[in-house]
Amino acid sequence: MAGKKPRIVAIANEKGGVGKTATVVNLSAALSVEGQKVLVVDMDPQHNTTNGLGIDVADDNISIYDLITNGKEYKTSDAICRTRWEKLDLLPSHIDLSGAEIELVDEEARENRLKAVIAQVADDYDVIIMDTPPSLSLLTINVFAAATELLVPCQTHPYAYKALEDLFDTIEDIKEEINPDITISGIIPTFFDQRTRISRDILERLQTDDRYKDLLYNTAIRMNTTITDSSDKRKPVVFYRKSSYGAQDYMALAREFIG
Ligand SMILES: Nc1ncnc2c1ncn2[C@@H]1O[C@H](COP(=O)(O)OP(=O)(O)O)[C@@H](O)[C@H]1O
Ligand SMILES: [Mg+2]
Repeated sequence: MAGKKPRIVAIANEKGGVGKTATVVNLSAALSVEGQKVLVVDMDPQHNTTNGLGIDVADDNISIYDLITNGKEYKTSDAICRTRWEKLDLLPSHIDLSGAEIELVDEEARENRLKAVIAQVADDYDVIIMDTPPSLSLLTINVFAAATELLVPCQTHPYAYKALEDLFDTIEDIKEEINPDITISGIIPTFFDQRTRISRDILERLQTDDRYKDLLYNTAIRMNTTITDSSDKRKPVVFYRKSSYGAQDYMALAREFIG
């Protein structure tokens, strides 16, 4: 940690259900197991990441909503929750976050609220990982403005492959208009199922497509129901069932991420 700048990572894909939240929760936990000090930022009003890390969303919790709408009153450190696991902290979401876009509409520098929030504590962490809602809203733009890199979970499914193109175009626009420093640093194949031809085909297309092959992680996250079970039990899969494919894959992903 000493004086080193943290990696500030957005997990994004405009499509829903591609494994963004699963990747935020489980990659973060796996990184903490590898000794990295991690801050998870839940920018999705649906707060699945917050719950997945075992934290309740109570009305009176100070949340990321308070920080981005009322930064004069609230300090980032007031909102940080320690999870039950070492080296794994959280800036929780709140349902009210869905109204933040409208509340901020007339505010100056509204795209850079999250960036300022994170800057207050960045030095305390090795990695900061941010979840995004499945749309290009002001919340997602705040994440892109704050991030130094973007990891894209891509379901090994034809629609998801097609949607990658749109996301790459979006990021070009973000680079020009909001954050010249953001780069797409990786594509993570998710929901991989060795038994189905379509899953194998899409993985092969990702591996051979000139636009994507250099960005592709070697680790594919396999389809594994233990991942859903663990989120139902509000635990990252590496702490829920270490021997599962889900835990093994996210540990491998974490090691590849650290490099
Ligand atoms: N590798 C996987 N295998 C099986 N189920 C998964 C896997 N990854 C995620 N899921 C489940 O699929 C659903 C959608 O995943 P989620 O991470 O919430 O997607 P997103 O955040 O992109 O909308 C959730 O119920 C989650 O538990
Ligand atoms: Mg999600």
